[in-house]
Amino acid sequence: MKLKLVGIICSIILTGCHSNQSALSPTGEGAIKIAELFWWMSGGALIVWLWVVGTGIYGMFVKPQEHNPKKTALFIITGGVIIPVIVLSFLIFMTIPMLPPLIAKAPPNSLEIEVSGAQWWWRVRYPQKDGSFIELANEIRVPVNEYVQLNLLSEDVIHSFWVPPLGGKMDMIPGRSTYLTLKPTKTGVYKGACAEYCGGAHAQMKLDFVVMEKEEFNQWLEHQKKPYVKNSNPQALRGEKLFLKYGCTACHTVRGLQDIGTVGPDLTHVGSRLSLGAGILPNQLEIYHLWLSRLKQVKPQVHMPEFDMVDANDLKAISFWLEGLK
Ligand code: CUA
Repeated sequence: MKLKLVGIICSIILTGCHSNQSALSPTGEGAIKIAELFWWMSGGALIVWLWVVGTGIYGMFVKPQEHNPKKTALFIITGGVIIPVIVLSFLIFMTIPMLPPLIAKAPPNSLEIEVSGAQWWWRVRYPQKDGSFIELANEIRVPVNEYVQLNLLSEDVIHSFWVPPLGGKMDMIPGRSTYLTLKPTKTGVYKGACAEYCGGAHAQMKLDFVVMEKEEFNQWLEHQKKPYVKNSNPQALRGEKLFLKYGCTACHTVRGLQDIGTVGPDLTHVGSRLSLGAGILPNQLEIYHLWLSRLKQVKPQVHMPEFDMVDANDLKAISFWLEGLK
């Protein structure tokens, strides 16, 4: 019975080691090095732990006897000085050379993406040659096996950017620019999260990080560059009109419709994203409606005002239109 229980607990804990948000299944150059260090440190800690526990157990069972001062001194010097010096020197020797590559800038001509943290979402901007940006939110896509430099900013408080399977974490500090270089080695969808407490909805500040083949990435970016496409479906047309009528454009830009709102996430191609609400909900029609009608329950403390006073059919039309913004 006990063995079964241990098995169940272990399987629950260990399933966490193989997810798309785990630093222990690394698929990026930085994260591979960090995971390697983690295993070395865990191994070292295990040896030290076994030594300490072993000594404790030995002490419990050994018969009281007269000390041999020479032996005792040798034991204390070995266990208390020599071994810790060897272990700690080894760890320093392992760690220090790792730092320069982890905090290096990407080689020239690498893809650069600007990511700003805001309570509680991520503004993502792909700089263009003419100095303009392609802006989206809560989703970052990059080509596989290439260096990418994320230039990190903050719009309010300190956030921290972290996609555990791909690399280390880096603080996003108001008034300063930091950066993080990543090199993903495997295509896939990874989950990132804010790693610094930044207020009420900190735990709901996530993002999708998609690593794609180069060709696929270029097509995706080309599509994101385009303005929204007018949807001639009557429900969508009604939704678009209501979106304008209720003043949603004061905070949200939909390129091609109105681009004055910069406070909230750009919604030009929101329907093409993998998730909603900054990585916390699936991108489905009913979720748009849930978001608009029960916002403060879905994501407490979010800065967007609630629209629960709006007629349910109007919210349905807006949801329908938004979901269609592919
Ligand atoms: Cu942003 Cu925690």
